[in-house]
Amino acid sequence: VFDEVCETTGVTLKRFMSEVAMLNPDITELTVLFGAIETACKAISNLVKRSQLPSSETLGYQGEVNVQGEDQKKLDVITNDLLKRALRFTGRLGVLASEEEDVPVDLSGANKGVLIDEGERYVAVFDPLDGSSNVDAGIPTGTIIGIYEHDENCAIDPDCVGEDCTEQEAQCLANTLQPGTNLVAAAYCLYSSSTFLVLTLGSGTYGFTLDENLGEFVLSHPDIKIPEESSIISFNEANTPNWDKPLQETVAKWKAGKGKSGKKFSSRYIGSMVGDVHRTLLYGGVFGYPGDKKNPNGKLRLLYEGAPMSFIVEQAGGLSTTGKERVMEISPEVVHQRVPVIMGSKNDVQEVIDAYAAAQ
Ligand code: AHG
Ligand code: MN
Ligand code: MN
Ligand code: MN
Repeated sequence: VFDEVCETTGVTLKRFMSEVAMLNPDITELTVLFGAIETACKAISNLVKRSQLPSSETLGYQGEVNVQGEDQKKLDVITNDLLKRALRFTGRLGVLASEEEDVPVDLSGANKGVLIDEGERYVAVFDPLDGSSNVDAGIPTGTIIGIYEHDENCAIDPDCVGEDCTEQEAQCLANTLQPGTNLVAAAYCLYSSSTFLVLTLGSGTYGFTLDENLGEFVLSHPDIKIPEESSIISFNEANTPNWDKPLQETVAKWKAGKGKSGKKFSSRYIGSMVGDVHRTLLYGGVFGYPGDKKNPNGKLRLLYEGAPMSFIVEQAGGLSTTGKERVMEISPEVVHQRVPVIMGSKNDVQEVIDAYAAAQ
């Protein structure tokens, strides 16, 4: 639907969103959110780029441990606050969840106690700085965002106070715990040689590059389609001994050029999911953070890493699986639930799925 809307030269993100909204009026509200996301990505890109300068004091550790048990970087906290503020001031969000927030944050409207007004129809989930362990070395990092609609029957009775709001509040906050199949939009920003914003609204995956002279994201990768098969694996191979057998065997075959495609695979791993997935989208490949004996659910978080990135990969014609089930179909039980992820080129990921099925 989009390609008849936009030529592919000089189309800014603002124009892309307004043209798409003209075709699909019900997503007009989303354009407001993407305006805030775009601004936040530019601001974070600036912060990350300038963090290496002697005058900046944004490198290093915050001195806190987050709910994940990770030593927070200063930029984890700064980017989280920046994104919360940018999204809050759209007035379109009822609740948000972040890697850097212990529990979902209620962005209740003017009249406190009513968690989600009619106008605040969206829920945002995000990883404000992905790959932050790389940021002190200036290695690419990113931001990941997922947008859901909230469940209608969640508005809190304005007359409720204190205790008797708790049940409804729980229901409202529970609205962050939706499966990836409920996502209405997903996006990532990549802070690398260029600053990219890649998004899906459910009809294909579109990539924009920041033109610093214009200060605008310009459509640079219309309707990305991930190569169906590839020759790149992207895993932390230090963990190979702990992986499930079906994955160990499939990757060993690929390395020996004895996989389905007969291709000899090479390995590329940045350690920033956004960077590894972006390269996988454009060059093809299989990116994964599988479960292992120590951590059966792996390391990546379902709500704001696994599901949004799976949506983007699937909309580009790729697959995303735990090995046993489609990542987007998993309903989170808790906000920071981890999930094994193997995603990328359709035929190659299918080979892993088949190996798991054969081992059942
Ligand atoms: P975050 O920086 O948001 O905590 O995410 C880091 C994740 C992900 O970006 C990357 O794929 C993975 O951690 C790398 O983990 P290892 O360093 O264990 O390979
Ligand atoms: Mn982290
Ligand atoms: Mn992350
Ligand atoms: Mn992070």
